[in-house]
Amino acid sequence: MMKNFFKKIIDWSNKRLDLTNLAEIFLSFSGLLYGELDRRLELHEALQKALKKPVPKHVNFSFCFGGITFLLFLIQVFTGILLALYYRPSPEAAYESVRHITNDVTLGWLIRGVHRWASTLMIIFVIFHTLRVFLTGVYKPPRELNWMVGVCLFGVTLIFGFTGYLLPWDQLAYWATTVGTEIAGGVPIIGDFLLLMMRGGKEVSGETLTRFFTGHVIILPLVVFILLGLHFLMVRRQGISGPL
Ligand code: HEM
Repeated sequence: MMKNFFKKIIDWSNKRLDLTNLAEIFLSFSGLLYGELDRRLELHEALQKALKKPVPKHVNFSFCFGGITFLLFLIQVFTGILLALYYRPSPEAAYESVRHITNDVTLGWLIRGVHRWASTLMIIFVIFHTLRVFLTGVYKPPRELNWMVGVCLFGVTLIFGFTGYLLPWDQLAYWATTVGTEIAGGVPIIGDFLLLMMRGGKEVSGETLTRFFTGHVIILPLVVFILLGLHFLMVRRQGISGPL
């Protein structure tokens, strides 16, 4: 029944809006096709190749989970930048700035809500994507390198959630981070070092907030961009995996 439902939606959208044509119309207007930019940079052929790549027959809805995860990541980048315009990463100001975003800033409640929901959905979809890849055996050669990059992406997605959780600097955030970092402290041999690095001291404090904020808005986005670049390059180079 679900299969029929999705098939109907795909048939409908294929008939009503041909996304390739829509993209072509948009690109023509922007000058990237048939315009001044195209004449100078010769983009037409490269774009045609990218847009007209046929999708193999066996590719079904489960192959969209990676793309949906990426879309959710883009939503996180967009809403995160808007939140960063008002958020203040210090123990004195953080809680008040989040309260200000939620109650006073125009549509602040919506942007914050979308950032929270999209983070949860991103974790759910990265799990679905990993399951799809695992169940179709795509961790096997020749795609094992991409699987390894994927495992790193999985870890980074979870660390995004963990570092973001502290930022509102309320009781829930404080104690969740205290417990989370305590668990990391239990790792054999390097546990004490890990705990110290994460907290920036013995206790969860303003130092921890600064570290989590820097990780959340600078280090992790950089790491994700590099990993996603590699991930997509490999998908393009090796093509999507064949039928089971
Ligand atoms: C931020 C997280 C991630 C994003 C945005 C992402 C995105 C994508 C996209 C768009 C594709 C091509 C379409 C598809 O197969 O769904 C793909 C393919 C792939 N991904 Fe990911 N991915 C992520 C995490 C992961 C993880 C956690 C793993 C595994 C541990 C993984 C392993 C793979 C593999 C092996 C392929 C090739 C699939 C094939 O050829 O059938 N990815 N990814």
